[in-house]
Amino acid sequence: MIKGKDGTIIPKVVIERLPRYYRYFDWLENKMEKISSKKLGDLIGSSASQVRLDLSYFGDFGQQGYGYNIKKLKHELVKILHINIERKFIIVGAGNIGRALTRYNIFKDTDFTLKALFDINPALIGEKIKGVTIYDVKELGAFVKENSIDIAIIAVPKDAANDISAILIQNGIKGILNFAPLDLNVQESFPVENIHIIDKILALSFMIS
Ligand code: NAI
Repeated sequence: MIKGKDGTIIPKVVIERLPRYYRYFDWLENKMEKISSKKLGDLIGSSASQVRLDLSYFGDFGQQGYGYNIKKLKHELVKILHINIERKFIIVGAGNIGRALTRYNIFKDTDFTLKALFDINPALIGEKIKGVTIYDVKELGAFVKENSIDIAIIAVPKDAANDISAILIQNGIKGILNFAPLDLNVQESFPVENIHIIDKILALSFMIS
């Protein structure tokens, strides 16, 4: 549960929209000084009132008749999203997805770092992708604990995912980004984000019918 500046509980949907705001502010930063809630809403596909409500949870950033100062609000979002805090990541599963994520510079402009990959396939152990080493999954628990890893990305086959998440949690991981096509068997309060591209495709297919 995350609370806003005056102690109100911030709905998860609002938190999920914040990275989107951040991305737009990052893009707009060198293009303009300020933006109205209407224009911002148009950009992110939301209404002006929704934008004002979303941002009001975190402080009084907007000014009537002026809008939002882009640099200032981006700076606030960096603090709110903890983008300025060092976060250590690992990826479990060095197959198609694990490799693609490692090759693509997902943590650009953040203080997040990818510390290691893990795999069960002996042929992959010791290989480096973009300078990041693939370790034997047997070393996973000890590595997470010793290096105080914050977040793990699970990119292993479905059947292995729950065992991996159990090892991660036992060793102090704080959050999981899960690509495996199942709901992980974790406590409800444990932070998990799932990425299921097929869900998006089905939703799109439904929307165009
Ligand atoms: P992949 O087969 O290319 O790679 C999986 C890797 O996990 C392999 O290198 C394998 O050796 C390793 N592995 C297997 N068991 C392991 C274990 N116990 N511990 C550590 N490593 C282990 O698979 P791909 O294409 O990268 O997909 C990864 C996962 O993501 C699969 O569960 C797949 O179904 C899922 N997926 C999810 C998508 C999504 O939208 N979320 C889209 C495509 C795939």
